[in-house]
Amino acid sequence: MRILSIFGTRPEAIKMAPLVKRLEAEPGVQSVVCVTGQHQSMLQQVLDLFGIVPAHNLAAMTTNQTLNGLAARLFTGLDDVLAAEQPERVLVHGDTTTSMAGALAAFHRRIPVGHVEAGLRTGNLFEPWPEEMNRRVVDVVSDLLFAPTASSQANLDAEALTGRVVVTGNTVIDALRLMCERLDSDTAMRERIDAQFPFLEPEGEGRPLLLVTGHRRESFGAGFEHICAALAALAQTGKMQIVYPVHLNPNVRGPVLATLGNAPNVTLTDPLDYPEFVRLMQRAAIVLTDSGGVQEEAPALGKPVLVMRDVTERPEALAAGTVKLIGTDRVAIERAVLELVDDEEERRAFARRVNPYGDGHASERIVAALVGKPFTPFASRALPGYLHPVLAARADA
Ligand code: UD1
Ligand code: UDP
Repeated sequence: MRILSIFGTRPEAIKMAPLVKRLEAEPGVQSVVCVTGQHQSMLQQVLDLFGIVPAHNLAAMTTNQTLNGLAARLFTGLDDVLAAEQPERVLVHGDTTTSMAGALAAFHRRIPVGHVEAGLRTGNLFEPWPEEMNRRVVDVVSDLLFAPTASSQANLDAEALTGRVVVTGNTVIDALRLMCERLDSDTAMRERIDAQFPFLEPEGEGRPLLLVTGHRRESFGAGFEHICAALAALAQTGKMQIVYPVHLNPNVRGPVLATLGNAPNVTLTDPLDYPEFVRLMQRAAIVLTDSGGVQEEAPALGKPVLVMRDVTERPEALAAGTVKLIGTDRVAIERAVLELVDDEEERRAFARRVNPYGDGHASERIVAALVGKPFTPFASRALPGYLHPVLAARADA
């Protein structure tokens, strides 16, 4: 079976890497990778780490790209790759413009599509924007839907899609587990990474570490001004060390560097390699983020996560109480962070170690489903997060 995996951004690469490695090792499967290059250096970091050599790289990124400009480049480039490769199946991941274009380009050529990380929903097309739309479009055209959890399966079931739904767990936990095992077993690697953070106070002795990431398009402008103003005020209190690896999007870097470039107690870095970032998550007391992937990883590491969004398509950790939605209002961010910084007990209670998103075997299940081998689906419980109108009506009845 000739399987073409298409991805293009950092999070897609991290989440597809364990699956690509398994596909490469599976007898009877010919695995081909096409990266779109929607991201450049942030993607290359991950390809190098996992030793993935793409057969195709569309190098589609331009500085401050528009969604339509990017989509147009992707459709044109992907059609040529599909024509040349003639795959029996295409795999895409998640909710990016690359996923949407990859799935539609394959659909236009009547090539079956498998969607990894299917079925997540907020129920609001504009949050996250444009990702909620992208994910729905991919789900509609896919004949194999790899739902990470029972909640995402329930969303898909309610939409009566034609694809077959399989609950697998999220491959991000496969990647995270791999990385943590390496950090645990390879002391030299851990020490080498720690040496890259000379600005951090000694583990267990210093002030709490607040690890920050943020990049959502719907927060550009006022949202980011609020986030930066809140961080500047938090830094002034001197109660915490703040580390913020800044996304390369100019709409993020502009306000972040302007407001926090010279702030005391704040270290801004370029995007970190995945092992470095995982190590920082391990050392963090609190994670403040709007990232999808980080929302899944940090709870698995037992870290309290404050999410700078109004809604989330990931209700599982919210229900478990290890994630809190705090929006992007300056005062709300300041209050939520200070509450946790000031209260170590609360931090501990907040950080009940849960792993609702996977058990590290998602890639195995996906490969088994693809090649028709038996497997046990990932066991998880459907949760009331976003309730699809069909499900809500059923619950009322
Ligand atoms: C994209 C995805 C988003 C995902 C995020 C992960 C869409 C619409 N958005 O958002 O779902 O959460 O990636 O990070 O698919 N840039 C660089 N170098 C890089 C990467 C980005 O310079 O390696 C800059 C470029 O100026 C680029 C800009 O960032 O134009 C925006 O990149 P883009 O992929 O369009 O959007 P993201 O905000 O990264
Ligand atoms: N990440 C990383 N380096 C960083 C910041 C994040 O490797 O400096 C990883 C993080 O561990 C997670 C993924 O990137 O696996 C999340 O990517 P991002 O926040 O860009 O996208 P999202 O998950 O929101 O789509």
